[in-house]
Amino acid sequence: MASLAVSLAGLELRNPVLSASGTFGHGLEMQHFAPPRLLGGLVSKTVTLAPRPGNPLPRICETEAGLLNSIGLENRGLEYYLREIAPAMRAAECVVITNIGGERIEDFAELAARLDGESAVDALEVNLSCPNVQGGKLPFATDPRTAEAVLRRVRASTRKPLLAKLSPNVTDIGEIARAVEAGGADAVTAVNTLLGMSVDWRTGKPGINTVMGGYSGVGVKPVALRCAWQCVSAVKIPVIGCGGVASASDVLEFLAVGCRAVEVGTSCFSDPSHIARLPEQLAALLEGAGFSDVNQRIGVLGKGQATPACRPPVAGHA
Ligand code: FUM
Repeated sequence: MASLAVSLAGLELRNPVLSASGTFGHGLEMQHFAPPRLLGGLVSKTVTLAPRPGNPLPRICETEAGLLNSIGLENRGLEYYLREIAPAMRAAECVVITNIGGERIEDFAELAARLDGESAVDALEVNLSCPNVQGGKLPFATDPRTAEAVLRRVRASTRKPLLAKLSPNVTDIGEIARAVEAGGADAVTAVNTLLGMSVDWRTGKPGINTVMGGYSGVGVKPVALRCAWQCVSAVKIPVIGCGGVASASDVLEFLAVGCRAVEVGTSCFSDPSHIARLPEQLAALLEGAGFSDVNQRIGVLGKGQATPACRPPVAGHA
């Protein structure tokens, strides 16, 4: 069995497969489909200070190749998370990452401070990049100075490892990645959803109530891969790939560009158990190609190495 263990930002993951925020509840809701002991980690739905009802319906719709969503960070707020969710998460047999979101820099700092003492939480993912609040303006993800300022305040509020989740809806994601690294992020998650929209030409109605929303699913993989690679090229901290991951081969593509792990999201909607099968499929794929350790495939882009199983046979040997 190929070794799948990876480490990043001080976290030891049994494999590089994590759930993506907002697609898997807080994680334990899905345990009958995907036992946490099979995953590298669970990333919670975004938690905000106060409860949020989310955006008006309809707030999700299918596209030809993926999903549009505009949930609007619906959640029951930090008090509920600390009281009802976190205690249960202490039993999760994998790394637990809590995703936090806010409207002001102070919100992020307060969330980080309040979660700092919670033993269930191994790390925080700072959601700088939800496209469905503040009119899709993405104030924290598009301006490097603001992104750095958020991370600096959060860094001062907690000792937990910090992942900064970035947006693809920027001109130069490398610049934002450098900014969050300077602010104290321990890792970057690349990326959140692309800003998109859909319309029914017969009725003139938009697919989702807010018209614009976040586009995700297999169609975004080339964009996500490009963003992840640009982040890897820009910073020294590890990068977690996110966007369109639906197979073990997809996982290895993100690792090839230098990511140390991936988050799996939209594909869980059609089959919530498939994420739990990915690690085994990943091991089989690696073994079939002649590798004994997943770390051998991290950052191989452009290195020009054929996989052992692809090398031409040595003359005289079958
Ligand atoms: O609308 C939402 O709740 C989406 C959040 C996100 O993409 O981070």
